[in-house]
Amino acid sequence: MKQIIIAIDGYSSTGKSTLAKTLAKRLSYKYIDTGAMYRVVALFALQNGFIKSNSIDKVGLVSCLDKIKIAFQINNQGKSEATLNGLSVESEIRGMEVSSYVSKVSVIPEVRELLVAQQQEMGKAKGVVMDGRDIASVVFPTAELKLFMTASEEIRVQRRLDEMISNGRKVTFEEVRANLAERDYLDTHRAIAPLIQTEDAMVLDNSSLSREEQLDWVLGKVKALCL
Ligand code: DC
Repeated sequence: MKQIIIAIDGYSSTGKSTLAKTLAKRLSYKYIDTGAMYRVVALFALQNGFIKSNSIDKVGLVSCLDKIKIAFQINNQGKSEATLNGLSVESEIRGMEVSSYVSKVSVIPEVRELLVAQQQEMGKAKGVVMDGRDIASVVFPTAELKLFMTASEEIRVQRRLDEMISNGRKVTFEEVRANLAERDYLDTHRAIAPLIQTEDAMVLDNSSLSREEQLDWVLGKVKALCL
């Protein structure tokens, strides 16, 4: 079957990565979680004192970007994990602290330039499912299949809350709701590569769809393109 690039964009916690992971597994494609890459940069900024009292030292962070090596590795449970300079940081990048700063780090032009170039390199051989905010618009504007995912606010907050609680984090519905609302605002209003629904993207509102229904729907689109 022909190998393609599948670009999945959408708001925070719309189930992009869940769908992208299962889709990649089913098609034997590579899965690239670009949000994890921005989260790793935010973690590096926190660990190295570039974020203090709610403000980011952009000049300092940008001068150290060459010290950030991001990769993905498969852990012993077969799951993909993001690494920073060779160490798994999968758990740290999913916490509230990184979540509160990641959209502010991802507006920095030099950060985007660096990560977009790495993402283009990772996907150039095709056979890839990549999720994020600017995949269809900036990273792979010629992707053969573009999906824009959305779901109701309540469902998105509940999904994210369930995920955080199952990972042992103490967080409330209201904290998660406020974080998602802030990130959506920043992601859609930034000057560079804001989250947009491209004209050629297919919209998938999964508010009332099961994981299997979503997967079947996308597999139908892939088959139509590749057979
Ligand atoms: O997908 P996520 O929620 O893990 O992404 C974390 C943040 O990273 C998100 O709020 C915005 C940013 N991001 C981005 O700017 N561009 C991408 N391609 C992916 C994520």
